[in-house]
Order: sequence, then C-alpha cells, then structure tokens
Amino acid sequence: MAFVTEDNLTDLALKRWSTAHSPRLAELMTALIRHLHAFTREVDLTEGEWAAAVEWLTATGRISDDKRQEFILASDVLGLSTLVVQMNHRFSAAATPATVLGPFHIDGSPSAAFGADMSDDVPGTPLFITGRVLDLDGAPLSDVLLDVWQADADGTYEAQLPEVDEARLRAKYRTRSDGTYCVRTIAPRGYAIPMDGPVGNLISGTDISCFRPAHIHFLVDHPGHEKLITHLFRQGSAFLDTDVVFGTKDELIVSFTERPAGDAPDGGTIAEPHLHAEFDFVLQARDEDPRP
Ligand code: BEZ
Ligand code: FE
Repeated sequence: MAFVTEDNLTDLALKRWSTAHSPRLAELMTALIRHLHAFTREVDLTEGEWAAAVEWLTATGRISDDKRQEFILASDVLGLSTLVVQMNHRFSAAATPATVLGPFHIDGSPSAAFGADMSDDVPGTPLFITGRVLDLDGAPLSDVLLDVWQADADGTYEAQLPEVDEARLRAKYRTRSDGTYCVRTIAPRGYAIPMDGPVGNLISGTDISCFRPAHIHFLVDHPGHEKLITHLFRQGSAFLDTDVVFGTKDELIVSFTERPAGDAPDGGTIAEPHLHAEFDFVLQARDEDPRP
C-alpha cells in the first residue's frame, strides 16, 4: 500500500471511489474527485477558506425545508440548473425551449376553463395569454395540459406571504380541439430571489443583480410529446438580460400589447383596458431525438 503524499493523493482517492458498485456512480464520483482536487490545487485553497465553504454549506442545509430549497437556489444562480435543463432537453430549433422549473410550482393547482380568470381577486392589470399548442409539423394538439403559475403585480408568490395559505395565481388549462388555449390573469412583476440566506450573502459580495424579469411559468404536457417546462417573459421588462437564474431566452420574450376596453381576446367583452400576449407552444415528439 502506498502512503499518502500530495502527489499521489488524487490517484489514491480515484482508485478507492472507482470501486462503487454502480458503474454510473463510479463514473460520477471519480469525475467529482478529479475536478474537486484540481480546483483545490488550482486556487491553492487555504484551511480557512475550506472551513468557510463547509460553514456555508451547513447554513444552506439549515435554512432549507419543505418550503425553501436553498441548495436549488444555489444551483440556479450558479447556472447549474439551466445547464442541466439545456443538456437534457436538446429540442429541435423549431420547438419551444425549456427553462428551469423554479421553486414555486405546486402539483395541485385548480382546473380552469378556456379564458377563466386565474387571478380571482388579486389586484393588477388584466392580462390574456392566447395561442395554440402545436407539434413540430404545425398540427394543433388538443386536450394539452397547460399548468400556469406566476407572481403577483408586486412580484410576490403566495409561499412568500405568511397570511396567504391558499393557492393563488395558478391554474391548469387545457387546449380545445383546435389546439387553442386562453389564460386570463394579471400582469406579473419581476422580483428578487430570496436574499436573506447563504445564497443572498454570497451574491451580496458581487455585482450580480438578484432580480428576475417579469415572467409567467408554463408546464405543457401532452402524451407522446416531451413535457415542456418553460416561461414567457414580458418584452421590455427590466432584468431580461441579467436574469439571476439564467432563464431568459429570446424565443420566450413576448409582447404584452395594450388594448382598450371592449372586445376581449377570449371572445367575450371586458370593461377595462387590458394586456394581450400571443404565443404558440411547439412540442417535440418523444421519439424525435435531435442529438447527433
Ligand atoms: C422562479 O421564477 O419562480 C424562480 C426560479 C428560480 C429561482 C427562484 C425563483
Ligand atoms: Fe417565477
């Protein structure tokens, strides 16, 4: 057995971890060791810096619970969440691109009919989002689930309001037989990610903007097609080019057009001026893998 030196330590650790019973775990762990050791050597890590990193990870674990996931937030601001999404959803260029899920999705959103208002009494400028869900050949897809959620006009989700214990600003719509959908809601505002924890502490020591641009989340699900998790971003909104979680994509920026009171985009009428966004979601079939 070779005794440990600075020079042979990485090889010894690699040999030990390559014995993992699962070949994939062996691959992951040995790659992790190679990169961790290379990083440590590259930056000449001090014991104080190593202890500070352990303290940061401990604080990140302590602040996380069922409602708050600080490790996911850390992954988001480091660009890791978006990288994992990009690599695992290499859709064809014609399909709507995927983005991160984020921490505010819940499973049990209420169902809503075509054009039903998911904002209930939450104040804000009325917004209609209409369009179709299509396959890659442009054929409309019927009965597609569109699970929609968003922040309010102050940029706040219900999970951030202790006095609100009911789901709000979220609903599950379905496309009609011609592939059309109509969401009625209010215009959301951009917001800062939670800054009162270890991720916020880290970001505060940089010039990184902690804001996300105004957006609405969509989970679009249809049997036979890849499940699409994505956002629509409001054109002209602040922070589009500095989104702290690297979510913004050109294809997902839509105009919220101002319209006067009168005819509404759902075919009815509306007594107030309102906004209208139009967007067609294009889904990739499950067996179409564009990867080389
Ligand atoms: C969100 O848009 O809901 C979100 C995504 C990632 C981190 C924080 C918030
Ligand atoms: Fe969001």
